[in-house]
Amino acid sequence: MALRPRLDMPASAQAAAAGILQQLPSRPRLAIVLGSGLGVVSRRWPVLSSTPFRDLPGMPAATVEGHAGRVLGIDVAGQCALILQGRVHFYESASFEPVAAWVRALCACGIEALLLTNAAGSLNPAYRPGDLMIVRDHICLPALTGPNPLAGPNLDPGPRFLTTADCYDPQLYVWAGEAAAAVETTVHSGIYCQVAGPTYETGAEARALRALGADAVGMSTAAEALLARHCGVRVLALSTITNASGEAFAEDEHLAVVAAANRAANSVGLILESVARRLVEDSAGGFSDQ
Ligand code: HPA
Repeated sequence: MALRPRLDMPASAQAAAAGILQQLPSRPRLAIVLGSGLGVVSRRWPVLSSTPFRDLPGMPAATVEGHAGRVLGIDVAGQCALILQGRVHFYESASFEPVAAWVRALCACGIEALLLTNAAGSLNPAYRPGDLMIVRDHICLPALTGPNPLAGPNLDPGPRFLTTADCYDPQLYVWAGEAAAAVETTVHSGIYCQVAGPTYETGAEARALRALGADAVGMSTAAEALLARHCGVRVLALSTITNASGEAFAEDEHLAVVAAANRAANSVGLILESVARRLVEDSAGGFSDQ
C-alpha cells in the first residue's frame, strides 16, 4: 500500500511528500539536510531512491553552487531516512516561503526528527576553521534574519505562538555530543546566529553578533529549526566552521567555504550516522509506520 503523507499538513506539503514517499519502501524515520560542501556525506549510506527537486511539482529549486538539488532515500540501520542534498536560503528569493515549503514537505513525509547541517563563520575566538559546533540554541531575530519564518497566516499543524525553549532536542543534542567524543575534529557546543545574507559580515558586524552572544553565524538552519518544531518534529543542528566571520578570505569566498566544509565532512558524517542509528534503534520513540 502506498505510504500516505501526514494528513494534518498543508495540501502543498502533502503533495510534495506524496512524490517523495512513492519512491520509498517504508516511511522515513528522519531527514538530514546537507549544507554547503557536505553533499559527500550522503555516500555513507546505501541509496534507496533519488528524486531531483525538479521532479516534485511546485517545489523550489536550489540555486546555489555546491547544493545538488535532490532528495535521497537512504538506509540507516535497516530503516528508511531522507537526505535533502542541497537547500534553499532566504537570500535566494528574499522570502522564507521556499524554505518553509521544503521543511514542511519533509515533515509531511512523517519524519520524527530533522538533522540540519550548515557551513558557518566563527565569532567565538576559540573556534578554528574545520571545527564543528553542535547547536545548543540560536539567535533568529527579524532585524538580523529577515522576517520570522512563521510570520503570516498560521499554517497547520502548529500553534500560532510556538514555544522555542527546547528548539534543539535535548536527547539528540546529548547523542551528538557523545558521538563527537569519537571523532578527530574539535567539536564545540554553541549559539548559532542566522543572518539573512547573502553578504558575509563586516568586521564590525561580526563583533556586534559576538556581543549578542553568538558563537557562529550562517545563512540557514535556525529558520528551518523553527519550521520543523512548528510541525512537532525534533531537531538537531550541526555547524561546520569554515572561516572566521568578519575576516577577509584568501580565495573566492564561497569556494573556500565549500572546501573547508568538505574537509570536515567525514566527522559530520560520523556524528550524523551515530545520532541517526540511535534514533531509529530507540524503540521508546513509539514510531508507527502508518
Ligand atoms: N557568515 C555567514 N554565513 C556563512 C559564513 C560567514 O562567515 N561562513 C559560512 N557561511
